[in-house]
Amino acid sequence: MKIEMVPAIESESAEDQTKVMRLKVTGPIDPADAVLRRARELVQRTGSTSMGSPLNGRSLRVPSFLRSDCSLTQAVAPTSPRELIAHARSLLKRAYAPYSHFPVAAVVVDAQGRVFEGVNVENASYGLTICAERVAIFSAIAAGATGLSSLAVTAQKLKPVTPCGACRQVIAEFLSAEAQVHSDGGGDAIVTWSVGELLPHAFEPRVSVETALASAAE
Ligand code: THU
Repeated sequence: MKIEMVPAIESESAEDQTKVMRLKVTGPIDPADAVLRRARELVQRTGSTSMGSPLNGRSLRVPSFLRSDCSLTQAVAPTSPRELIAHARSLLKRAYAPYSHFPVAAVVVDAQGRVFEGVNVENASYGLTICAERVAIFSAIAAGATGLSSLAVTAQKLKPVTPCGACRQVIAEFLSAEAQVHSDGGGDAIVTWSVGELLPHAFEPRVSVETALASAAE
């Protein structure tokens, strides 16, 4: 089985031709192929239109943000900062922010390259609001994800947005001090911090518990 990224030439719109690419699958189809599975997941997740059945029509329509100049493997495993930010931007419309009118979206990547999504979810009782970053991380943890390696965040009205203090503490719980947090700087700009830069001297309960146990044993 061979998979290529090709322009969606059957589209009548010139704009579509430049913006939309397809994954073209040739040769005997292997439905269990990891790249193909990943591509199908992405297409479903990003809400892109599938052009015919991927197995019969042998093509998948790929969202424009995945087009870029990257290789197919990277395209179907969007873990580059630019792709993560683009993915987060695509989620902004799902933010539930009727009180602040400040939509935020975030994605976090696990050790297997799986991407988990989050948006801010507000409440009439304002203090119950949860930020996009925490929703993404909690969704990853609830799905059994381990080894969270990087996070990307974007806000519609503030570029770059910086994670709030509560989110920094949650980020420090699940990502290493060296892991990267990317924020949308607008246009092609991306600002990147390490988790350690965002929250130096983090409170680390795991360390505290070990310390407590060690001192109890003394
Ligand atoms: N918010 C986030 O979701 N993430 C941030 O990094 C900053 C703030 C949300 C919380 C609230 O719904 C809205 O933005 C305004 O504070």
